[in-house]
Amino acid sequence: MSDPLAPGASDIGEYLVSCRSFDEYRAMFGLTDDDLAGRVLDCPGGGAGFTAVARGIGVRAVAADPVYATAPEELLARLREELERGSAWTRAHASRYVWSAYAGGPEEHARVRAEAAGLFATDLLARPDGYVAAALPHLPFADDSFDLVLSSHLLFTYADRIDTAAHEAALRELVRVSRGRVLVYPLVDQAGRAVPDLVDRLSAALGADGVRVRVRGTDYEFQRGARQLLELSRP
Ligand SMILES: C[S@@+](CC[C@H](N)C(=O)[O-])C[C@H]1O[C@@H](n2cnc3c(N)ncnc32)[C@H](O)[C@@H]1O
Repeated sequence: MSDPLAPGASDIGEYLVSCRSFDEYRAMFGLTDDDLAGRVLDCPGGGAGFTAVARGIGVRAVAADPVYATAPEELLARLREELERGSAWTRAHASRYVWSAYAGGPEEHARVRAEAAGLFATDLLARPDGYVAAALPHLPFADDSFDLVLSSHLLFTYADRIDTAAHEAALRELVRVSRGRVLVYPLVDQAGRAVPDLVDRLSAALGADGVRVRVRGTDYEFQRGARQLLELSRP
């Protein structure tokens, strides 16, 4: 099959709009209840169920993604296609993934993602104020707006099409809107390749400006080898 996430595309429409679940977010970022006590930003939110479930349990969560500029009906139709596209990709490359978090297989993985998409869709339609159309590196939030900023599967994942300068600008923007921690996962690209040079360059650039940078482990692993996240905070 052809590669649905082939490098070279620069248009936003070429990024997969994926739908990870709240539980996947908790596992990826190693989140505790205390971590979710303050204001939380998910950027990019995509079709993830994180914000929907978080708001449902009283977390002050907001998702930001340029795809939220799309009319809801159009976005939800696209998500249905993206679920198929994402499932087809993971099935076609099954050996690149560790399936243990999904009862051993692609069917459960697809079910989890479809359920998360459904929760996202319901919340988007019922409470659209939690979904802000915005694109890094320019977010419409004041400095220090969030206690926790989560960013999954855009930076590093698309290192084939987002250059170092754009990564740096995006990370600086996430740090700007955070008064606590910024967590970015994973630190591998979409093919599962580690990107240590990129991580090192960005760590050095941000560190030189006083941002505290840590590469931390996570117990979650779906893309084989993706067991690290980047934690940024200001002293
Ligand atoms: C693979 S999805 C990840 C979504 C979600 N975090 C998840 O893990 O399910 C990548 C998302 O990045 C969004 N995106 C693309 N360019 C962006 C930008 N400049 N700023 C913020 N989000 C962007 C896309 O619209 C897409 O929803």
